[in-house]
Amino acid sequence: MTNLRLAVLASGRGSNVGALMAAQREPDARFEIVLVAGDRPEAQALRIAEEAGIATLALDPRGYADRARFDADLFARIAAYAPDLVVLAGFMRILDAAAMAAWRGRMVNIHPSLLPKYRGLKTHERAIRSGDEVHGASVHFVTPELDGGPVISHVEMPIEAGDTPASLAARLLPLEHRLLAATVDLIARRRIALAGNRVDFDGAQLEAPLRLAGRSLAP
Ligand code: GRF
Repeated sequence: MTNLRLAVLASGRGSNVGALMAAQREPDARFEIVLVAGDRPEAQALRIAEEAGIATLALDPRGYADRARFDADLFARIAAYAPDLVVLAGFMRILDAAAMAAWRGRMVNIHPSLLPKYRGLKTHERAIRSGDEVHGASVHFVTPELDGGPVISHVEMPIEAGDTPASLAARLLPLEHRLLAATVDLIARRRIALAGNRVDFDGAQLEAPLRLAGRSLAP
């Protein structure tokens, strides 16, 4: 089985990009990052990739008449690298539905909440304000509905007394890294697939997101 070719999209710090780069160096890794792309040429995520000799691509939205044209060019350039999977890792743009249609079932996103709770922004703040006792992150297939695609996996953690959005985000981030790497690994082993609007795991429909325990995922 050939390694899964990954294109990773990021807009900022790139810690999830770094986590995937570390995971692809594992001896039994089944994927390789062939491109890190983004919408901000100065993003740290691109620097991290460049330093590792990974191809990068940065398109500045200000050079395009509208979102649809930017996204169409971005994904045309991504396609030239022949990725099998596109991973949105802190890519802070809402993608045009037409541009993402061709990637249905081949694009995933990591989101810092237990989807379907708290789609969109300020997820840590909203979880605290709601008085939730548990928070977490999700990896889901990307569909035109923002943060609305079928959820593949979850990682959970307690919200502790005195937590602020910043302390929650900081404690969650390393768990996100493990969740993303473990989920991409299962996709790379062809054990996860999008089937209509549901997730298939080992050929059977997932009734609930896989859960991260340690560094591995289980139903
Ligand atoms: C992560 O918290 C991710 O869940 C969210 O954006 C953040 C990206 O962080 N979508 P980084 O750029 O990977 O460090």
